[in-house]
Amino acid sequence: MEGIIVRAMSLADLPQVHVIETLCYTTPWSLNSFKYEIGNPDTILKSAVSENQIIGYVCARTILDMTHLLNITVLPEHRCQGVAGILLRAVIEELKRSKPGIKLTLEVRQSNIAAIKLYEKFGFTITGTRKGYYQKPADDALLMELEIH
Ligand SMILES: CC(C)(COP(=O)(O)OP(=O)(O)OC[C@H]1O[C@@H](n2cnc3c(N)ncnc32)[C@H](O)[C@@H]1OP(=O)(O)O)[C@@H](O)C(=O)NCCC(=O)NCCS
Repeated sequence: MEGIIVRAMSLADLPQVHVIETLCYTTPWSLNSFKYEIGNPDTILKSAVSENQIIGYVCARTILDMTHLLNITVLPEHRCQGVAGILLRAVIEELKRSKPGIKLTLEVRQSNIAAIKLYEKFGFTITGTRKGYYQKPADDALLMELEIH
């Protein structure tokens, strides 16, 4: 997509990021959660920027031998334009360079078809389920995984 830059999230992004986060989730991350991830050397945290506005972001944290995709969110009016794909590709490319062979894992609501299709497009496979994992509304989680080569 033209005009979209993906770069490391900065503290200055947080007010906009937190507005998007509260708009998009019933149990949003706190500002402090984002601050913690910005300061964590094991976390990849990126913003997608268009015309000086944050339109999406992604967060993935490595713990031992797994990287967990913890958050990927796009502003509603910018969805279905490839933004999440750009963010996810940026994470995968960084892991290819820094941690080849690692597994990228995630949980997703089993009702979240858009996200599941996104992950499947990138080659993630379903490895299990977690009953009652989500609240507001109650939902099961699918566990998905991609080996990075
Ligand atoms: C899931 C989400 C991040 C997708 O962002 P997006 O920028 O719209 O996604 P993209 O435009 O990059 O789409 C990439 C692929 O995802 C899939 N996809 C995205 N939106 C879809 C939809 N509404 N229905 C079906 N498939 C969809 C498609 O496979 C698409 O590829 P295609 O365009 O070649 O068909 C976005 O809908 C969102 O922010 N949702 C709310 C937050 C959320 O649920 N995050 C995931 C938590 S696990």
